[in-house]
Amino acid sequence: MISSYVVEPDYSRLKADLVGVLVFKGEETLPKEVEALNTELGGGIKALLGTPEFTCGVGESVLIYGFRGGVKRVLVVGGGDKGSANAEVLRTYGAVVVKRAKELGLRSVAITARFLSGKEESLRAIAEGAELANYVWGAKKDLRRVEELVIAGPEEVEGAERILKEVGVVSEAVSLGRDLANGPAEEVNPETFEERVREAFKGLPVTLKVLHEEDLRREGLNGIIAVGKGSAIPPRLVIIEYRGAGEGEPWIAVVGKGVCFDAGGLDLKTAASMFDMKFDKAGAAYAVAVAYAAAKLGLKVNLVALAPLVENLPSGSSYKPLDIIKMYNGLTVEVHNTDAEGRLILADALAYAAKNYSPEVMIDMATLTGSIISALGCHAAGLFSNDEGLKEEIMKAAEETGEKVWPFPMWEEYYEDIKSDFADIKNIGVGRAAGAIIGAVFLSKFVGDTKWAHLDIAGVANTQQEGPKKPYYPKGATGFGVRLLLQFLRSKERSG
Ligand code: BES
Ligand code: MN
Ligand code: ZN
Repeated sequence: MISSYVVEPDYSRLKADLVGVLVFKGEETLPKEVEALNTELGGGIKALLGTPEFTCGVGESVLIYGFRGGVKRVLVVGGGDKGSANAEVLRTYGAVVVKRAKELGLRSVAITARFLSGKEESLRAIAEGAELANYVWGAKKDLRRVEELVIAGPEEVEGAERILKEVGVVSEAVSLGRDLANGPAEEVNPETFEERVREAFKGLPVTLKVLHEEDLRREGLNGIIAVGKGSAIPPRLVIIEYRGAGEGEPWIAVVGKGVCFDAGGLDLKTAASMFDMKFDKAGAAYAVAVAYAAAKLGLKVNLVALAPLVENLPSGSSYKPLDIIKMYNGLTVEVHNTDAEGRLILADALAYAAKNYSPEVMIDMATLTGSIISALGCHAAGLFSNDEGLKEEIMKAAEETGEKVWPFPMWEEYYEDIKSDFADIKNIGVGRAAGAIIGAVFLSKFVGDTKWAHLDIAGVANTQQEGPKKPYYPKGATGFGVRLLLQFLRSKERSG
């Protein structure tokens, strides 16, 4: 979508298939530029306020048609109470307008800006919502997208062009992540995932390294080997190095679970629970997206993204219950359930990152457990960390990007649950108890002294059946975590 910002003191002059207007609850006097539009519509916007059918709740909307030529359609969007309006309200607003335009098959949209505390941040939020909502996946791709977006405001916004360009890159990255996650297993498997990454990063200042089966074996990345054994397509570890802070500065590692399809392995899932398991590579997809945006934006950080890629399938060559795996860091793991596969591939990738990059911080994203959905539903990701400061930094970034995370404990007691009689640890706990915590506790055994955080995104990675309800999350992959980690990386940028 081509986006631009224009200064326009009279919104009745806007030319677009659809014009969006944001109004707040109980607002009696509209800004004068909106008032002009209201007059053009014969008082239609004001007439709507205070009616029982429009309560002005956040994201609520009513479409008004203009009869005098000029402006043809106006979407009046509710912003709730003005006092509690924040960036997420503006993101929602931008998204609602674009979503409706897409549904109506309209190609050009004008969104009128309302500025909250900071003009720049307000513009960024509106544009972000609009761009993220404009994503379409699948065969209908080119049919319904909005092509042209104008954001109009009553006054200049410093750096508007740069802000919109940045938002464009972030949205491109989120789209890349969503595309990789949305791709059915037939289309996006460990081999084609690698190809797509190579294609996407062409011309960007990164070094791509891919460890294939023989490399994984030589390095002793046996967790990835074990899970990948049951598939006809060999597993691999994709590594993207981006040096934006220069030599000598420490790495930040982002690791994503890349199970291109999780049938459960020999501990086969039921049909219902297998249904949306093409999304089990979302963590890897979103980690790749973070690296893409960081490189394209030129962030001053040294970032390494690692994506262990496998398919977890039942076959004659599959790994089996009670197999004992000697992991990359030397720990032995007794397999008590082949469906707890994500932690095995992540454990190796985390240990590999810790050993070979000595990162100052390491964050993983994984659709790790159904248990996190029992705990938080589809509204938030579970946050686990071995460092309080890091935990807080991530919660702060999440607050800013509107991606909800919630912290969980990793107390000593839980480590008892993964003890094994015949190996160092086993890959599940006791029954179904505290499944998400057990997954995190397992991972923590592979990070050494590295400051590390784990985001269990099983509930928020996609909206195929259920998922977080936001107008900027179209059906399918959400891209949850990409903006959050980019926000975190921005706070880690080296000056100079
Ligand atoms: N990929 C699943 C987790 C999952 C479940 C993601 C539902 C999205 C929606 C993971 O590999 C898995 O199968 N986890 C098991 C672990 C259990 C066997 C200890 C689970 O959560 O049931
Ligand atoms: Mn599984
Ligand atoms: Zn899985």
